[in-house]
Amino acid sequence: MADQPQLNTGSHDLPVTPALEAFMAGQWAATPLPADRRVPGHDWFPARRAGLAAAFPGERLLVPAGQLKVRSNDCDYRFRPYSGYAHLTGLTGEEQVGHVLVVEPDGEPVLYLRPRSDRADGSAEFYRDRRYGEFWVGRRADLAEAARLTGLRTAHLDDLPKLFTGSVPTRIVAGVDPVLDALAGRAASGSAADGQLASALSELRLIKDAWEVEQLQLSVDHTARGFEDVVRALPAALRHHRGERWLEGAFNARARAEGNGTGYDTIVASGAHACVLHWIRNDGPLDPSELLLLDAGVETDTLYTADITRTLPLSGTFTSAQRDVYELVLAAQNAGIATLRPGASFRDFHRAGMRVIAEGLADWGVLPVSAAEALHEDSGLYRRYTLCSSGHMLGLDVHDCAKARAETYLDGVLEEGMVLTVEPGLYLQPDDLTLPPALRGIGVRIEDDLVITADGARLMSDALPRTPDAIESWMAALLP
Ligand code: GLY
Ligand code: MN
Ligand code: MN
Repeated sequence: MADQPQLNTGSHDLPVTPALEAFMAGQWAATPLPADRRVPGHDWFPARRAGLAAAFPGERLLVPAGQLKVRSNDCDYRFRPYSGYAHLTGLTGEEQVGHVLVVEPDGEPVLYLRPRSDRADGSAEFYRDRRYGEFWVGRRADLAEAARLTGLRTAHLDDLPKLFTGSVPTRIVAGVDPVLDALAGRAASGSAADGQLASALSELRLIKDAWEVEQLQLSVDHTARGFEDVVRALPAALRHHRGERWLEGAFNARARAEGNGTGYDTIVASGAHACVLHWIRNDGPLDPSELLLLDAGVETDTLYTADITRTLPLSGTFTSAQRDVYELVLAAQNAGIATLRPGASFRDFHRAGMRVIAEGLADWGVLPVSAAEALHEDSGLYRRYTLCSSGHMLGLDVHDCAKARAETYLDGVLEEGMVLTVEPGLYLQPDDLTLPPALRGIGVRIEDDLVITADGARLMSDALPRTPDAIESWMAALLP
């Protein structure tokens, strides 16, 4: 029998007798994957890999999927591959743990993977290893199957260390896979050259291809259904002592049923919790006199996520103060959306929305200075009421393309195929003495997903209502 030094077994696993080991080693039928199976979207990936190779000619580039992280003892957190790896390979499942895409100096991509354990070679991994055994976590592809699935040349992960024995200039995406970092002799922060690779991978994702836009639309559509589920769940949630959690469960059930899960932790913020920008504790009760801020996205099986926020009156009808705040945020969002077109600055939609917000705050008599003064770059006083930025790129990550250089993103211009959110908000803190008491504790964010088109932008999330009247009608139709 082969050595079994690296089996990931648990302390509560019963010992395996030699008789059982021998019995497990044989009489298994072949179960090949269907020969015509391909990763979804497989035709789109070669151009991405070629684009990356062209940015670093003559260099070896390593893009890891990442490793499992221990939750406790032999239990790991659910695995999701590094988005740059998924973008270049189309591989998204937990069986990608430890795999690495290598782009060779001549531009040829090779996928280094842990192939399916061969039951005939004496390995007990398939039935004893809790981490990688297919009786525990499911089937992996063998080298030939992985090559067919992806169209990539494949190699055994055990051969990866050989790549570090020569003098080929090599960049890795550092900080994703500690095993690879160690092999390459890198700290998790990586070298400056590694940082350029991470930036290039982010910038490769700034413009979505048509297939990615389809995936994002699918995600938005699933998310819209999840929002409907939340409204339908309101009567039960209002009766529960932790109604926010009840609603989180309703959305997350849709996310798991339709896709891989949520694209980020669902924010369910009732009343003043909406003034906490990323409220994910979701442990509050619901008060029918208050608003509910729901910020959520379904991640598709291909790992693209929507990012949508709606702010709803829990009673089904906005009060006049709630409506005033809502209308101001909506006007800001409309002003921001109106700026979106190829050639516009990325910052334009934020500036347009914030101008509307500052003017509204000044009209309410809340600002100690004029709107123009509050908006001045030396001031920014309006931000007391709306601290976060009002949009970002969207894609495989909710905050997509995060390592892109400022000149291509924050200080860059929009191009056809970019997908972004526009999400102004007002967060009127419950203890803010600058505000009239009627406005304190109201938080409103309206967040939509848009794709830049040849002459403007398409609202991808228009299945969900945005105006107060449309929200009230939509809720009335969904509620019993
Ligand atoms: N859901 C996080 C964000 O809107 O950016
Ligand atoms: Mn967002
Ligand atoms: Mn959001």
